[in-house]
Amino acid sequence: MAENKGTYYITTPIYYPSAKLHIGHTYCTVMADAMARFKRLQGYDVMFLTGTDEHGQKIQTLADAKGVTPQKYVDDIVDGIKDLWATMEISYDDFIRTTEERHMERCKAIFMKMYDKGDIYKSEYEGWYCTPCESFWTESQLGEDKVCPDCGRPVQKAKEEAYFFKMSKYADALIDLLKNNPSFLEPESRRNEMIAFIEQGLEDLCISRSTFDWGIPVPVDERHVMYVWIDALSNYITALGWPDDPEKYEKYWPADVHLVGKEIVRFHSLIWPAMLMSAELPLPKQVRGHGWLLLGGEKVSKSKARKGKDVIDPVILIDRYGIDALKYFLLREYTFGQDGMFTNETMLQRINSDLANDLGNLLSRSVSMIVKYCDGVVPEAKQRDEIDDDLITIATSAAAKVEEKMNLFQYNLALDEIWNIVRRANKYIDEKMPWALAKDESKKDELDTVMRNLAEALRIVSILIIPYMHTTSDKMREQLGLADVEGVWNDAFEFYQMNGVTVHKGDALFPRLDVEKELDALGEIGAAQ
Ligand code: MSP
Repeated sequence: MAENKGTYYITTPIYYPSAKLHIGHTYCTVMADAMARFKRLQGYDVMFLTGTDEHGQKIQTLADAKGVTPQKYVDDIVDGIKDLWATMEISYDDFIRTTEERHMERCKAIFMKMYDKGDIYKSEYEGWYCTPCESFWTESQLGEDKVCPDCGRPVQKAKEEAYFFKMSKYADALIDLLKNNPSFLEPESRRNEMIAFIEQGLEDLCISRSTFDWGIPVPVDERHVMYVWIDALSNYITALGWPDDPEKYEKYWPADVHLVGKEIVRFHSLIWPAMLMSAELPLPKQVRGHGWLLLGGEKVSKSKARKGKDVIDPVILIDRYGIDALKYFLLREYTFGQDGMFTNETMLQRINSDLANDLGNLLSRSVSMIVKYCDGVVPEAKQRDEIDDDLITIATSAAAKVEEKMNLFQYNLALDEIWNIVRRANKYIDEKMPWALAKDESKKDELDTVMRNLAEALRIVSILIIPYMHTTSDKMREQLGLADVEGVWNDAFEFYQMNGVTVHKGDALFPRLDVEKELDALGEIGAAQ
């Protein structure tokens, strides 16, 4: 068993059950899942939370349009979201729905802490509201065209009696937090945006609505429901049982990281800490804002091979290429914090080059050769030259580098460190030419050494990929004869653990794709989306 390294609490945003989730929505959850699995592999006691954000004007409007109650509306969609996370093998430890009693009661308790502190007062709201973002805007923030600065859609005028939270009171404390504790908000570009936002003047925040009733009633005035962001942000501690069942809260809070998309960094790095300061609760250790996957785009629509649009439904993509290929692509292709273009073409090329060619070929070649030259039994390494040394050093030093990159949320670079082993091992085969060694009886020791070193390098890869593609890891370990041995993090630092292990030839890990043909097929599906 891995050593216990302490606790690690990671969250994704809780999703609006308002539309079918597309590949962009899955990006954050896939990153959070990989981090949760990585920390578990290292021996942390992990709490990974996700869920759904089910109240607010947007949901009420959508339910009204469908002619169903908001509860019925969200129940149906939430089932679909849970199914998607099951298909994507998302290893969350808890799924919180904001319509659950446990959340609603605890959320009221947070409100009351802020109220009792004297930070909530009644007044009148007059301004603009973006329903899709559930976001209030002032005249000056909108500019002339009256569109939401976050999503660019038209905003509606709102004028109603409302409760306000004294956000302005916390402006200095928030500036202090962002400037003196820079790791609280990463990346730096987002931090600078938030500092500038506060410096423009932080206004008090409207935190109740009274023109519709799909929300948590304000405890001191049931004609109002809480502003949906106050309701939603609270999930990070209500799910832990604060305040009435605080065992998990005491164990995991403050969160190690809230992973969020860039457009909701403002809510997480300003409103949420101000709420916690008001309620006199500790702040999360970090908020990390990721970029967006941009869907479609010129390059793709111009591609000759394409008949239609890109397929962005994760279920269709998983069905065709498997969950591990999709997860690998999302984590390897994009740089955390930056936007990236999503196209089916880049995805297919990445799957072919890194998975079918580099990793798949390495495993299949190595296992075939061990079967052919050593009757399937991993032999002892009998000697060591500079080329062996190079492979061994790269393989045994990768784990530390992967850890370093993961701690910076550089998933793409962490995977690249692992693929360094894969690429080096493929080159090692080319350099050592085992087929030539096999023809010469006097080279048997060298041949054995090559077989042994390939098996060990693949074993290390099979451990390092567990957080990102655990099914592929299992398949590799099956072929390597390690199916009964648990992949343990510390074993990724060590060579020579496979004495006398019997390998088994199996199917290709990732069949090679005919990119043009796949693009045509996806184009047809995409056109019908
Ligand atoms: N309900 C709020 C979050 C409340 S958290 C207390 C919300 N929900 S959402 O469903 O609209 O978005 C959930 C997450 O999906 C956000 O972090 C958002 O950035 C992310 N994404 C939605 N489209 C995306 C892309 N195209 N690319 C990357 N992430 C995207 O906001």
